[in-house]
Amino acid sequence: MTPEVNSEQAAMWNGAGGHGWAASRDMVDLILKPFEDVLVAAARAKPRRQVLDVGCGTGGVTRAIAAALGDVPCLGVDISGPQIDVAERTANVRFVQADAQVHAFEPEFDLIVSRFGVMFFDDSVAAFRNLRAATTPGGELHVVVWRGDEDNPFMTTAQRAVEPLMPELPPVDSGGPGPFALAEPDQTRKMLEDAGWTGIGLEKLDLTCSMPVDVLPQYLTMLGPVGRALQGMEEHRRAEALGTALKAFDSFVHGDEVRFPTGAWVVTASAPL
Ligand SMILES: C[S@@+](CC[C@H](N)C(=O)[O-])C[C@H]1O[C@@H](n2cnc3c(N)ncnc32)[C@H](O)[C@@H]1O
Repeated sequence: MTPEVNSEQAAMWNGAGGHGWAASRDMVDLILKPFEDVLVAAARAKPRRQVLDVGCGTGGVTRAIAAALGDVPCLGVDISGPQIDVAERTANVRFVQADAQVHAFEPEFDLIVSRFGVMFFDDSVAAFRNLRAATTPGGELHVVVWRGDEDNPFMTTAQRAVEPLMPELPPVDSGGPGPFALAEPDQTRKMLEDAGWTGIGLEKLDLTCSMPVDVLPQYLTMLGPVGRALQGMEEHRRAEALGTALKAFDSFVHGDEVRFPTGAWVVTASAPL
């Protein structure tokens, strides 16, 4: 039987969090398209035999890589049933709902990618060791993870603005599993070494993301801790909090577009030969 780990994250990504992401798949893929392009380019850099996309969500990146590589088989894995349920299969794309930290993968992947899907493990060393075991000798890891919230102000803008109205929100960065868990480069490097990866590299990636301004309310109400909290609020409190959150985004609004800078790491490593 699969050991039970990551139970808090599993509950969140199978509850309101996962349903919010599933319902927002087109918006998420639009906003995060620049990162999809980076991972597709990495996948195309050399011939590949089998690709694994970890924390694939609704599978936009998995499908984009599969389309770019022709008939190379690609597997997306995610702990979130609501997202895997709506992930569209194509000829060479499969999806599985599983916890990547403990799932018994076949050791067949020569490329493992992820777009912001590897920061949510209870035990990152165990998870990345499990991913290394899924990799063929010399196979590559190529994932993007967020740097700190100071490089990604859009991610915490709503929360900081509504905190006085919503004291029930958890602190912005409480440590542990979450979007900023791999923000500290020395810790990430050490974690990957401990997990048995070699040739580890971390490169800064600064990209601008955007969305149409009329999508902003959906972004604020469907994703992240503020989105989840807003979904459960009575109407008058919700309207006030949403209004405050929208106002806080003013500096990112340019005409009919919302644009914001982002800061990520591209983390690369190889499995020993
Ligand atoms: C920020 S979302 C990114 C989703 C997708 N990669 C994308 O770019 O749209 C993080 C994803 O990691 C998944 N996740 C979290 N913990 C996981 C675990 N232990 N095993 C597999 N997936 C996990 C979540 O369910 C979620 O879909």
